[in-house]
Order: sequence, then C-alpha cells, then structure tokens
Amino acid sequence: MKTFQDEILLTEIFSRFVDLYPEHVVFVDPETLSIVYLNEKAKEFFGDNPDLSVFFQQEEYVNLLSLIQNCHKAEEKRVITFKRFDGKKGILLFNLYPLVNNGYRVVVFIFSDITEKIKNKEEKRRRNAQLIIQDKFKSLDLVTSSISHEIDNICNFMANNLRIVLQVWNDVIKLIKEYEKESGEFVLGGIISSEIDKVIPRLMMSLIEGIHRISDKIYDFKKYIKEGFISQVSLVDINEIVKRVINVLNYHISMYTDKFNVQLGESLPKIRVNVQKLEQVIVNLLTNAMQSLPDKKRAIHIFTGTEGDRVYLEIRDEGIGIPKKLMPHIFEPFFSTKGSSGLGLYLSKSIIEEFDGEITINSEENKGTSVKIHFPPGH
Ligand SMILES: Nc1ncnc2c1ncn2[C@@H]1O[C@H](COP(=O)(O)OP(=O)(O)O)[C@@H](O)[C@H]1O
Ligand SMILES: [Mg+2]
Repeated sequence: MKTFQDEILLTEIFSRFVDLYPEHVVFVDPETLSIVYLNEKAKEFFGDNPDLSVFFQQEEYVNLLSLIQNCHKAEEKRVITFKRFDGKKGILLFNLYPLVNNGYRVVVFIFSDITEKIKNKEEKRRRNAQLIIQDKFKSLDLVTSSISHEIDNICNFMANNLRIVLQVWNDVIKLIKEYEKESGEFVLGGIISSEIDKVIPRLMMSLIEGIHRISDKIYDFKKYIKEGFISQVSLVDINEIVKRVINVLNYHISMYTDKFNVQLGESLPKIRVNVQKLEQVIVNLLTNAMQSLPDKKRAIHIFTGTEGDRVYLEIRDEGIGIPKKLMPHIFEPFFSTKGSSGLGLYLSKSIIEEFDGEITINSEENKGTSVKIHFPPGH
C-alpha cells in the first residue's frame, strides 16, 4: 500500500487540492512574469489562457507585477480593481505568497471576487441611512404636528382678539375725533391725533397679516415634513420646488449670507421626481453651500434652466471650496469634514440617480463650489 511519503502521490494530491481549492489560485513566475499554473476556479474566471493585462487598469497592473516580482514573504491582503466582462468595475481581494523549492521561485496569487459583497454592503449602508432619515422624519412629523397645532391655536386666538380690538378702536376713534374737535390736536403715545385714525388701523392690519404669515409658514413646514413619507413620483415644475424650499429655509439662509441670488429659468419642461425627495436634495445642497461660507458677504446663487432637453438646477457658493484630494470621497456615506452625518451628498446622489438624473460638482479651494444636477424631461 502506498503512503503519503510517496512523493508522486503527494504531488498529485496537492495539485488536486489546489484545483479544488474554493478560491482562485494562479502561480506566476516572478522572473518572466508568465503564468505557470491556474486552478479550476481561476480558469473559470480568466479563461484557460489569459492575458492578465486586459483585466486590469494599466497602472494597477504594473503595480501588481512589481508586487509579484518583489514578493519574498507572504504579503498582507490587498485589493485591486478589474474590468468585468460587462464593462463595469469589479474588486478583487488578493494575497501573494512566495514558494521556493530547489532554487526555483514561484509566486502564488490567490484572490476572491468581492464586488458583490462590497455592493451588498454599500446597499445595506444605503438602506440603513435611508431608514435613519425616514425615522427622523417620523419623529419630526410628530413634533411639528403638535407644535404647529399649538401655534395655530395661538394665531387664531391672537387674530380673534385683534378683530375685537379693531372693533373697539372703530368706536374709540369717534370719541377721539369729537375730543379733537372741541380741544384741538393732541398727542397720543407719540402719535398726533389727526393722524391716529390712519396709523392705528395700519398697525393692527400688519399684526393680522403677521399672524397669517406665521400660519402659512407653519402650513408649508408641516407639508414639507408630511411629504417625507410619501414616495409618489409625479411630473413637477422644478422652480416650484426650489421656491418652496427657499420659503422654508429663508430665515436660515439670511443668517449665513446677505447675497442670496435666485434666477429661475422660464417655462422649463416638467421633470418626473418624488417631490419630497427632491426637496431633500435641495435642502442638503443648500445646507452645504451655507455651511461653506466664511462670512455673510459671500454669495449663494441658485439657477435653473435647460441644457439641450435636460433641466438643470445649479447651487453655487463662494465658500471655502473642497480640496482636490478630498473630491474622490465626498460622495461616500459618512464622509464629513464637519463632524456631521456625512450623508448629505451620498443620499442626494442616490436620489438623483433614482430619477435618472446626474450630479456634478466643481470646486476650487477658497473660491467656491458649484453643484449642478441635470434631469431628463419627464413624460
Ligand atoms: N458646498 C460645499 N463647499 C465646501 N465643501 C463641501 C460642500 N459640499 C460638500 N462639501 C464637503 O463634502 C463633505 C460631505 O458633504 P455631505 O455629504 O453633505 O456631509 P456633511 O455636510 O454632513 O459633512 C462635507 O463635509 C464637506 O467637506
Ligand atoms: Mg451636508
């Protein structure tokens, strides 16, 4: 009976093992950089006689070859991107091990395709982020509902009282006019009696108008929060959405800049989006623009218009800008230089892409940033 000491049998067993090994294994000669052996999984992946240079980006391929050439001890795990058959980018996680035997050196390149894993992880993170936002909206809705209910009550109460005061005033003014006729002009609270019949009603009307404006603002705000749950897609005028967001954020904007400039294009084609989600995008982008401004003299511009048949919205700020080296990261979830959520751009991009739109950011450090989104015309 043969034993494991039998060298030929051992070699056979090891080569079977390598073939059945569940990861992709490639043996490379580090001197000539040619492939010495591929296991079954690697053949499935690359084909029988692969030219590795077509799988990788030039720069990464050169890097990989140099790692193989200089591999004298087991390397730590690394990743490399590759071009998939569908043209999309994939990601490999790989190890390199040198094997030396009788002066003959071979480098073992073991890898697994983690593209799907990464994608799933990303998707999970995205879903989690969406859930966090949804949850925030839910609790916000509860709070705003009860606050706006309170404020509505107070507004009604004030409006009713003012109406009574106005009625009383209509009688009081008669007495004042009579008194004035008998005793001549006099001053009441710094206002001359001959003017007072015009001044007081004007003051009261402005109070009533103020109360109505509070009510309207609360109504807008409540609507904005409510729509946080509704996920309907409809044909909308982007200008209407921009105006509504500005209306809600008006005060906030005035805290950050004295130069807020809005130029809305005329008769734009409607776009097909979920109103609330687009509002969320505009709020995110405007918030970033506001937060980037070092002082109130720096401007924020908003433009809408068309380019070809696409509708665009641009939010441009004269803020601190984004350093070039950070640009590749700004769309990553949880990436923030401000210690905040880091979800703004990430969620905005995924929302815009959900509606077949596109987002591009141009920025110059210390000059400012322009964020432009394009949407196809809705049908
Ligand atoms: N208009 C802007 N001006 C300067 N930096 C910006 C601007 N918009 C985004 N950034 C940069 O991109 C990062 C990510 O933005 P975002 O996803 O909205 O997250 P957050 O605002 O929570 O930090 C910001 O932390 C900031 O560094
Ligand atoms: Mg942000």
